[in-house]
Amino acid sequence: MTKTYTLGNSKSQIEAMIPKLVIKKVKVGDRSIALVRIKDDFFAFNSTCPHRGASLIEGSINGIGEVICPLHSYRFDIKTGQVKSGSCGDLEVFHCELSEDGLKITLPDQ
Ligand code: FES
Repeated sequence: MTKTYTLGNSKSQIEAMIPKLVIKKVKVGDRSIALVRIKDDFFAFNSTCPHRGASLIEGSINGIGEVICPLHSYRFDIKTGQVKSGSCGDLEVFHCELSEDGLKITLPDQ
């Protein structure tokens, strides 16, 4: 089961709230997740690294759409969650889509 949440209340509010290439921590439901905007696409993923649990909010985004963990520099594709460098499970990613009334983010029920 999944649940879709709406962040903000307009497209322009979201664009103003989420600068490009900055990892932003947002609270959705009772979870804190990470949001990144690349050009006009938004990506949402677990804010905790699947390796040893470092905060990916402190990480960085490279030029090919990967988040780099600040602790051991493992890299994950922010679109698919696939681990690109390192040996651990994939990163949990969430579907998100910008609409006229805000950013829709779909999370699994916990
Ligand atoms: S905790 Fe993220 S790479 Fe080790």
